[in-house]
Amino acid sequence: MAKTVVVIGTEWGDEGKGKITDYLATRADVVVRSQGGNNAGHSIFFAQKKFALHLIPSGIFNPKIMNIMAGGMVINPKALAKEIDNLIKQEITDFQLYISDRAHVVMPYHLELDRLYESLKNENALGTTKNGIGPAYADKATRLGIRFGDLIHKDSLFRQVNNALAFYNPVFETFGKNTFSPEQITEEYYIYGQMFEKYITDTSILLDKAIKADKYVLFEGAQGTMLCLDHGTYPFVTSSSPTAAGVPLAAGIAPQYIKEVVGVTKAYSTRVGAGVFPTEFEDEITKYIREKGHEYGTTTGRARRIGWLDMNVIRHAVRINGLTGLAVTLVDVLSEIKELKICIAYELDGKIIDYIPGNYDEYKRCKPIYDSFPGWDEDITQIKNFEALPENCINYLKAIEMLSGTKITVLSLGPDREQTVILHNYF
Ligand code: GDP
Ligand code: IMO
Ligand code: MG
Repeated sequence: MAKTVVVIGTEWGDEGKGKITDYLATRADVVVRSQGGNNAGHSIFFAQKKFALHLIPSGIFNPKIMNIMAGGMVINPKALAKEIDNLIKQEITDFQLYISDRAHVVMPYHLELDRLYESLKNENALGTTKNGIGPAYADKATRLGIRFGDLIHKDSLFRQVNNALAFYNPVFETFGKNTFSPEQITEEYYIYGQMFEKYITDTSILLDKAIKADKYVLFEGAQGTMLCLDHGTYPFVTSSSPTAAGVPLAAGIAPQYIKEVVGVTKAYSTRVGAGVFPTEFEDEITKYIREKGHEYGTTTGRARRIGWLDMNVIRHAVRINGLTGLAVTLVDVLSEIKELKICIAYELDGKIIDYIPGNYDEYKRCKPIYDSFPGWDEDITQIKNFEALPENCINYLKAIEMLSGTKITVLSLGPDREQTVILHNYF
């Protein structure tokens, strides 16, 4: 049976999934994005070049890899065309890309709805990426959605667009927004259908064949466990399931094919957008981490909020995803900080708890309980094996293993593909 590895974010996204996927992809035959859309921003560095991917899987740089955008994604064709153009400008011209005919299309009125929902929520706004992700998934659930395969059938495309706008145009009118013409949208999106027709297929069949042919298949998660619609900090979450359980459903494969699940964990925590974040702090160290780690959103450019590593969060991710290993990233950013902290539990209304409360207001009342660790001064960005790390760094990493009950299988000591220490062979 093939080796299948799922790469999952254990926190609030931006853990370095792109970098870890790119590294593991050097041995993969297939790389799959199964959920999310261009709310994701995955940065990859190699050969002194930086790439930012939002929709396209991180295996795109290797012409031998099949890159699959699976049925659980929501795809904005305009953004996809721009991303392909950018790759071509950076001389990435030889690639294999497949798009599921079942993936949902992010339509222009989804972007308008995202902005409208956010503005109506005022101070309770989620701080979404404003890429229409929530409204596109909502339309999937209310059965007003348009699927990628529909883009190549003009009649059914018009019918679906017309159905959706029969509902949304009166809403836009009510709030003084411009309405959309179903005829014009059908014309424009039918052209996208023709542009992408060569990529559109039933990717579930492709994946099944690849798995049965013993290929190495890598699933590149987007977002993170704490942004999960079911298991995250609801309602301050995204609208898909970025967990391991979400992968077989979104990719259209049988659940028993998932073998290994690697949880990408930042050596500290970040969050972008609104919502509870118990270990967040704002001082000189925040600024140091933000600048050294370039903690600005890959998608929106927003400054990321910074916090200490939170083991209640990591244990939650270990349990929900069945993590078989951790890939700890951005460890190098912590060099030269005198004292490091790890949250080991929360205090909630006088009680010590080791889980994530389901009720949002209860979660907001949680106060982190910390253990302190002495830092290290050395630059670790060129280190190639675990034993060569400074003693205090090793102690910090061992504490993560002990507190999560999970082995560290990959260490990332810099953004470049080369700055990776592998402690377990995935493929
Ligand atoms: P993703 O969304 O999980 O793929 O993560 P992002 O790419 O949005 O954010 C992670 C950021 O950290 C990017 O700028 C990466 O280039 C960078 N990065 C990843 N791993 C490391 C690392 O080990 N050290 C440093 N310094 N930067 C890293
Ligand atoms: P990657 O794959 C970090 C956050 C947004 C917002 C919330 C809902 O790069 O880790 P949405 O646009 O999805 O409706 O926004 O989710 N968010 C992310 N934060 N990394 C991401 O992806 C994110 N994708 C969505 O900031 O708080
Ligand atoms: Mg990101």
